[in-house]
Amino acid sequence: MINKERVYQRLQELGKIGHRESGGVTRHAFTTEHRASKDLVAEYMRQAGLSIREDAVGNLIGRREGRDPNATVVLTGSHIDTVCDGGIFDGALGIIGGIEVLQTLKEQGIETQHPIEVYAFNDEEGSRFSFSMFGSRGVIGDLSPKDLEMKDKAGITVAQAMSEQGFDSLKLQEAIRAKEELKAFIELHIEQGKVLECKDLSVGIVTGIVNELWMKVIVKGEAGHAGATPMNLRQDALVAAAEMVQVIEREAKKTGSTVATVGRFNVFPGGINIIPGRVEFTLDLRDISQEVSDQVETSIFKEIEGICQERGVQIETEILQRIPPTPCSQEFQLAAKKACQDLGLEYYCLPSGAGHDAMQMVNICPIGMIFIRSKDGISHNPLEWSSMEDCADGVNVLYHVLLDSAVRIEG
Ligand code: GLV
Ligand code: MN
Ligand code: MN
Repeated sequence: MINKERVYQRLQELGKIGHRESGGVTRHAFTTEHRASKDLVAEYMRQAGLSIREDAVGNLIGRREGRDPNATVVLTGSHIDTVCDGGIFDGALGIIGGIEVLQTLKEQGIETQHPIEVYAFNDEEGSRFSFSMFGSRGVIGDLSPKDLEMKDKAGITVAQAMSEQGFDSLKLQEAIRAKEELKAFIELHIEQGKVLECKDLSVGIVTGIVNELWMKVIVKGEAGHAGATPMNLRQDALVAAAEMVQVIEREAKKTGSTVATVGRFNVFPGGINIIPGRVEFTLDLRDISQEVSDQVETSIFKEIEGICQERGVQIETEILQRIPPTPCSQEFQLAAKKACQDLGLEYYCLPSGAGHDAMQMVNICPIGMIFIRSKDGISHNPLEWSSMEDCADGVNVLYHVLLDSAVRIEG
């Protein structure tokens, strides 16, 4: 059995880095908080007896050797960055849980055939550069020079932020892992929804992850005098955009499975006595079926076209990312079910509505995900919480699944 107090104590300790007065945690990519969190996790890795390295895109990696030096590597881990004002479990649990499994194996003197590595991925959330899963994209070789030009709110590009933290953006390729050297990637995470809580279960086995479409929509109207322009002579970008947001909600609701969110909304020029001439907003659209997601996208933009004509405004769109839905491997799901049975844990199989690094890793190896219950389903919020017992159940399942995948050496 893993050491649940150690897991929980480390979660609290890591959660102090980037802690804000609001009660939430903000640890964005390539910041001093990000650096400090990696230094602390490196210390946990050291205590677990792992060899430690950092790759060219800022992922921190801890490795435990297997008996067979030529065997493929089993990967686990999750992301170390957080959203703005996030909780202490999202991402952190998968890293601390992975390290805990390896520290427990060390303490128990158990060896495996395959090596196991824990990744603390950099920038899964995409909160700083509006572009998620930077670290895992680096591992699969999916970063281009254009991605390095993405800017944060202060106008700093990814390339500049990298260089400020001592990384060379010309060396991205060095983070790539070859398919041939990998066996699987298994991620432990909080559910971030209410399904497990409603079922009164601590553990879930993930069947697959929904797609992720991120887009920026720019609505162009005409700025004008708020006092001198009659209502029938306006091209108010904000009123048009407000209708668009309503359309987005309505079309997503129709399917029963799709979720769509407008999370950022900026009005220009932003004067109290100026008719808004320009609005920029983001769209996040997800479904477990790519086909359904595509249909909703098409119907949203058909409606938006009508709004543009009616209100005399124009739109421009910019795709920030399109990630397809991701299935979890059958082999993993069977192993996770067996682990739950061996541990006497009742489980539930469910899809993930949140995005995860596993969506990138699936391009180079089979993936699997284990969920644990989230209190009130709350996440991306300082109130995000999971109990020590639930964290322990999840890490114990991870222990069994990793031992199965990396092949425990008996005796
Ligand atoms: C990450 O948590 C996401 O689902 O956007
Ligand atoms: Mn998250
Ligand atoms: Mn996460």
